[in-house]
Amino acid sequence: MYPVKRTSPRLELRELTIEDVDAVLAIYGSPEATEHLSFEPRTREQVGEIVARSVTLATAEPRIEYALAVVERDTNDLIGFGRLAMDPHQQRAATFGFALRPDAWGVGYGVETVRLLLGFGFEELSLHRVWGARSPLNEASAKTMTAAGMVEEGTIRAHIWKAGRWRDSVVHAMLEDEWRAVCR
Ligand SMILES: CC(C)(COP(=O)(O)OP(=O)(O)OC[C@H]1O[C@@H](n2cnc3c(N)ncnc32)[C@H](O)[C@@H]1OP(=O)(O)O)[C@@H](O)C(=O)NCCC(=O)NCCS
Repeated sequence: MYPVKRTSPRLELRELTIEDVDAVLAIYGSPEATEHLSFEPRTREQVGEIVARSVTLATAEPRIEYALAVVERDTNDLIGFGRLAMDPHQQRAATFGFALRPDAWGVGYGVETVRLLLGFGFEELSLHRVWGARSPLNEASAKTMTAAGMVEEGTIRAHIWKAGRWRDSVVHAMLEDEWRAVCR
C-alpha cells in the first residue's frame, strides 16, 4: 500500500521523504529518545541511510515495511517516527515501533501515535496481530501501549544486544478483535 496517509485529531501519519532526515535525526540522534531503544544514538549519515532505505522500500511490491513520519497537524512539524514491519514468520502479523522527539512528550501524542499505527495495521493492512517489544526499564512505552489497549504478554529473554550486554524485552500485543472492541 502506497502512499500511506492517516490522521487522528492532532497527528498525521505520512510517508517519509528524503527532506525529513534532519527531523528524524532529532529523534534517532537523541540520547534521551534512544535511551531504551535497541540502538545507540544514530549519526546524521546513518539516519540518511535509514530514510533513503525507507523511501525505497515504500514502493516495493510486496511492501514489507512501513516506516512513517508522525506529523503534528497544526504545525506540519515532524515530531515522531513509526514503523510497522510484516512478520515473515507469522500470518497477517507485524512488529511495530515508535519514537517521538523529546520536546513532544507528555501531551498524549504517544498514545495517539500508537493508535494511528494500530488502526492502520488492522483496518488497512487487515492484520491479525500487531506486537511491539520494549526494554523492561521503559515505563513510558509500557504505559503508552497499555493506554492504547495493548496487552502485556511476557518477556523475551536476552533479546537485544546493547551497551555490551544482552537485554530482555517485554512484549505488548493487540489482536484484531481487541482493536474492534477498543473502537466500538
Ligand atoms: C514512549 C513515548 C512515545 C511516550 O510518548 P508521550 O507522548 O510522552 O506519551 P503520552 O503522553 O501519550 O503518555 C502515555 C502514558 O505514558 C505515561 N508516561 C509518559 N512518559 C512517561 C515517563 N517518562 N515515565 C512514566 N510514564 C510516562 C503517561 O503518564 C501516560 O500514562 P497514563 O495513560 O497512565 O496517564 C515517548 O516517551 C518516546 O518517544 N520515548 C522514546 C522512544 C521509545 O521509548 N519508544 C518506545 C519503544 S518500545
